Amino acid sequence: MDMRDTPIVAIDHVTKRFKAHVALDRVSLSLRKGELHAIVGENGAGKSTLMNILFGLQQPDEGGILIDGRQVIHRSPSDAIANGIGMVHQHFKLVPSFTVKENLCLAARPAVRAKLRTDRDVAAIAERYGMTLDPSALTGRLPLAIQQRVEILKALVNEAVVLILDEPTTILNPREAESLYGVLGHLTREGHAVVAVTHHLDEVLRYSDRVSVIRHGTLVGTALTKEMNRDALVQQIVGRSVAVDSRLPGRVDAVGEEELRLEGVSVPGTAFSSGLHAVDLTVRAGEVVGIAGVEGNGQRELFDILAGLRAPVTGRVWTRAMDARQRPIVNLVPEDRHTEGLILDLPVSINLLLDQLDGAAYSRFGVLRHGAIAMRARDLAKTYDVRTADIALPARSLSGGNQQKIVIARALSGAPRVLIVYQPTRGLDVAASEEVLARLRGAADDGLAVLLISSNLQEIMRMSDRIKVLYEGEFAGEIAGVDATADRLGQWMVGGRDADIASRMAS
Ligand SMILES: Nc1ncnc2c1ncn2[C@@H]1O[C@H](COP(=O)(O)OP(=O)(O)O)[C@@H](O)[C@H]1O
Ligand SMILES: [Mg+2]
Repeated sequence: MDMRDTPIVAIDHVTKRFKAHVALDRVSLSLRKGELHAIVGENGAGKSTLMNILFGLQQPDEGGILIDGRQVIHRSPSDAIANGIGMVHQHFKLVPSFTVKENLCLAARPAVRAKLRTDRDVAAIAERYGMTLDPSALTGRLPLAIQQRVEILKALVNEAVVLILDEPTTILNPREAESLYGVLGHLTREGHAVVAVTHHLDEVLRYSDRVSVIRHGTLVGTALTKEMNRDALVQQIVGRSVAVDSRLPGRVDAVGEEELRLEGVSVPGTAFSSGLHAVDLTVRAGEVVGIAGVEGNGQRELFDILAGLRAPVTGRVWTRAMDARQRPIVNLVPEDRHTEGLILDLPVSINLLLDQLDGAAYSRFGVLRHGAIAMRARDLAKTYDVRTADIALPARSLSGGNQQKIVIARALSGAPRVLIVYQPTRGLDVAASEEVLARLRGAADDGLAVLLISSNLQEIMRMSDRIKVLYEGEFAGEIAGVDATADRLGQWMVGGRDADIASRMAS
C-alpha cells in the first residue's frame, strides 16, 4: 500500500456553532501520511474554524478527532502538540526581539529543548527540511517569508507529524510561495501530513495531492487533485460555474486619448526595494495597463508617486487634468485596504464617502449632514453591491470582499479619468475577486484609464490590454495582453537570471 493511503488524523462529523450560526455542519475529513491536503472555500466557509478545532484552539459542539484510529480530545493547543499536530497561523506569534534559536527554544516542549543547545543544532534541523536559516538572526528583522519558516520549524521541533497552515501564501510573492511549497514537499516526502488552507487555486492544482472544498460550513467533497481541474474546483467553491480562466478583454473601440504619462521618473532604492530608474509609461482612456513583477522591484514606489505620497527625484507625472497646484489627478485602490483604504472603526457610509465629506453636499459649518450621507451611501452600496445589514455598521464588520467593494465604489464614483489599482484581489475569495475584476474592466470599457499593479500574474494576464514587467526598477519588457504567456512574463520578472533569484529567495 502507498504510504499516502494511511490516515493519520480523521476529523469525524464535526459540528461547530457560534450562537445560532452553524460554522461547521458534520464535517468529516482525513489526513494521510505523506500528503499535502489543500482546503479551499470562500471567505467565511469555516476553513479556519475547522483548523482551529484540530489544533485545540476551539472545541467542537459535536463530533471529534481520531488520531491513528484513537479518539482524542484537544482542549488546548498543548494537547494537539502532544499528539503531533503543529500549526502556522495567518498572523505569526514570534517574539521579534528574540533570535531564531531563542524563539525555537521558547516554543519547544521541555523534552526537545535539550536538542537545541547550539546554533549548529538549529541550523541542522532547518537544513534537514531544505531551509537555510541563521539561528542567531533577530526574527523581527527577518522578511515575512523567513519568519514563516521559523514558525514551521517551531512546529517541527515539537515533532509534529501533521502541519496545519492557514493561508500561508497570502503574504508571499509568487517566488516565495514556490519556495514554501518546496519546503512542504520535503515534509511530505518524509511522511508528514501537511494541510494548507489557500485561496490560490493554481497552488492547489500544482502542489497538492488531495483537495477538500468547504462551502457554508459543509464539506462539498474531497478529491485527488490530479482528477480535478480549475473549473470544477471553482464550481464546487461557489456552488455555480464561473469562468475564471478566461481573459476579460477590453473593447478595442474604447481606447482613446492618453490620460496618464510618466516621463523619466526616478526614485532611489532602499534595502528592501530597487527604487525606480528613469521609468516611462503611458495609459490611455479605456485601457488597462498591467504592471507585473516580483514585489520589491519598484511597485510600491510607482504607486506612491502616482498617489502623491512622494515626489520623484527626477522626471515628471502628467495627467490630462491637473489640480490647482499642478499635481496629477488620479483615483486610487491602495494595496492594503485595512490601513490605506478604509477607516475600519467608522461606519460603512462614512467610508464610502471619505474623500467627499468636506464638500458642501455632506457637511455644513463643519458638521456632517448625516441624512445626505446616508442617502448617497445607500445608493453607492446598492450600485456596487456592498453587502451589509446596515450602512451604519463599522467597516470592520464586513467580509474582505465587501470591504474591497467599498474601496472600489469610492474610487469609481465621481467619474474619475485615471485609476491606479494596487493588488486589488489580494486575500479575496474567488467570487469576490471576480466581481472586483469585472467592475474594473467595466469602468475601463466606459473610458477610464486603469493602471493595474499586481504580483498576481493570472490577474494581470486576464485583465490587461498591455502588460509591462517591472524588474529592478525598470521595465524589462512590454507585451500585448492577448500575446502574453506566463513563461514570457516570468522570464522578464526574474531579469533572465532565474537561477540567482531562486537561490536568493531560498536563503
Ligand atoms: N469566534 C467566533 N465567533 C462568532 N462567529 C465566528 C467566530 N469564528 C468564526 N465565526 C464565523 O464562522 C464562520 C466561519 O468562519 P471561518 O472559519 O473564519 O471562515 P474561513 O476561514 O473559511 O474564512 C464565519 O461566518 C465567521 O463569521
Ligand atoms: Mg480563515
